[in-house]
Amino acid sequence: MALARQVGIPRMAFRLAAVYLDYNATTPVDPRVLDAMLPFFTARFGNAASAHAVGVAARRAVEDAREKVAAAIGATAGQIVFTSGATESDNLAIKGAALAAHPCRTRVVTVATEHKAVLDASKSLARFGIDTRVVGVDRDGLPSLDELADTIDDDTAVVSVMAANNETGVIAPIAAIADLAHNRGALMHCDATQAVGKIPFDVRELGVDLASFSAHKMYGPQGMGALYIKAGDRSRPGAAGKALTAQAPPPIRIR
Ligand SMILES: Cc1ncc(COP(=O)(O)O)c(C=O)c1O
Repeated sequence: MALARQVGIPRMAFRLAAVYLDYNATTPVDPRVLDAMLPFFTARFGNAASAHAVGVAARRAVEDAREKVAAAIGATAGQIVFTSGATESDNLAIKGAALAAHPCRTRVVTVATEHKAVLDASKSLARFGIDTRVVGVDRDGLPSLDELADTIDDDTAVVSVMAANNETGVIAPIAAIADLAHNRGALMHCDATQAVGKIPFDVRELGVDLASFSAHKMYGPQGMGALYIKAGDRSRPGAAGKALTAQAPPPIRIR
């Protein structure tokens, strides 16, 4: 309790925090992750965009991290864009794919039990004339493949379905849903935030075009996420002025 008082946590909250059971919301940072990160706050503090040795060392560390993240999901480093978390990845994926789509593709298809980041990002596209169709789930909490097949049409730009649900834990048949999307020429985005690091998630096996995930669901820090972009190409220039640390994504194209 003295510790609780010291760090300003109310007594009741401290008692509750002692039995923390909400690792789907966030996990503590693993000590090994912390050890790996700490030098970059002090001794190895370079700006990864600087040309001098300290900057180059920081850039190498970013690129090493990108390779590790890519390997974890069966991608290549050039297909990984670092973001501030899965919320940003979801927004970038859905808005990017929908707005870059052919003008005749004016629809996003998603599922009622998606995370707010996906639902809000999809619905925000209404002002650009892009409508969102939200498919329901069955008694097990899974989206019906039949309903998805009926809903995804030639007007669909992107289909967004999560791999594992953050509240119910159900695991969706992503490969089958990706097939449905591709059969209609749409892109498949998967919010894999609750899957990566917990169950096998291989972007090639599942056939997804875009996948979002987040460090703080798997013992990494908050404020750090990634977006997998199948069509990624590291040789393209990044965002003007900030190409190296938070590489800007290449344009997303409908095949
Ligand atoms: C399925 C899912 N998507 C997206 C998010 C948002 O993640 P972040 O906190 O990294 O923005 C979460 C976390 O709550 C989540 O569980």
